[in-house]
Amino acid sequence: MNEMFPAVRMRRLRKLKLIRETLLSTDDLILPLFIDENIEGKNKKPISSMPGQYRFSIEGAVKEVLEARSMGIKSVLLFGIPEQASKDEKGSEAFNKEGVIQRAVRRIKKDVENVVIITDLCLCEYTSHGHCGLVENGSVLNDPTLEVLGKIAVSQAEAGADIVAPSGMMDGMVKAIREKLDEESFSEIAIMSYAAKYNSALYGPFREAADSGYKFGDRSSYQLDFSNAREALREVELDIKEGADIVMVKPAIFHLDIISKVRARFDVPLAAYNVSGEYSMITAASEKGYLNREEVMMEGLTAIKRAGADLIITYFAKEVARVLEQE
Ligand code: PBG
Ligand code: ZN
Repeated sequence: MNEMFPAVRMRRLRKLKLIRETLLSTDDLILPLFIDENIEGKNKKPISSMPGQYRFSIEGAVKEVLEARSMGIKSVLLFGIPEQASKDEKGSEAFNKEGVIQRAVRRIKKDVENVVIITDLCLCEYTSHGHCGLVENGSVLNDPTLEVLGKIAVSQAEAGADIVAPSGMMDGMVKAIREKLDEESFSEIAIMSYAAKYNSALYGPFREAADSGYKFGDRSSYQLDFSNAREALREVELDIKEGADIVMVKPAIFHLDIISKVRARFDVPLAAYNVSGEYSMITAASEKGYLNREEVMMEGLTAIKRAGADLIITYFAKEVARVLEQE
């Protein structure tokens, strides 16, 4: 029995649209960018699995970051695509001082003021087999990979990255990277850890975008089973203990419950990754006329923030900035 009715009517205020508990802001957004060493000059190349998204040359990326900055976006997350021939078993190009990401970071630092540069820290774009770690007899090795991750972190920090973002879900990766950075006097460089990263089919479009698909097996030995929530919380807890400055849940919209649980349990800054598959689903459905792109985008991203994310990594970042500007 509802004794409050008819005294209380929820519609009264709703129609005034005065109360909005959650407001997206450009401050929340991180724009992911793909920087492809194989592209010359100022060119960019469309990514067919993600209509509206591009791979940029280094020059092109500088232009894109300037534009994002002018729209109020404060931070970018950079993925590198090295020259095809440079990929090897060990992903050594990932820590080359003259590698695509290292050069791109130096250029962006030089040409763009006040942008927070986050670098993806993983092996999969640089290994010939496409896995996120070193491989032996068909399995991905955890501990030997840690040393390589440390080297990549240092090379990215040297180039000028503000935050490194290890995405390979290796056990102990945050600790190994923190130690290595500190040893090399990069104690000011922050770590944003992909702490709870599910083994998700929603990364499909990204693998074409970043040329990071794997040649055999899958990523289930290192990424989380999507059936598990408590395990995700343990992953987050461990990364915090290892020294993560920001923890991430990924994918975002499919795993809002995890965002909300992490928010409730831990007080560290929390990022959520609105992944390629989430972007491409909305894009495809709106192209078919099944739903309204802008409305679904705003609903999805607002839900991510409402669930408790402080930062949202999204390919929609520039579009959201445009919508917010109109409001
Ligand atoms: C690889 C990586 C992936 C994404 C970010 N870093 C894919 C994967 O684990 O296979 C996915 C991002 C997206 O789908 O937008 N370390
Ligand atoms: Zn990887």
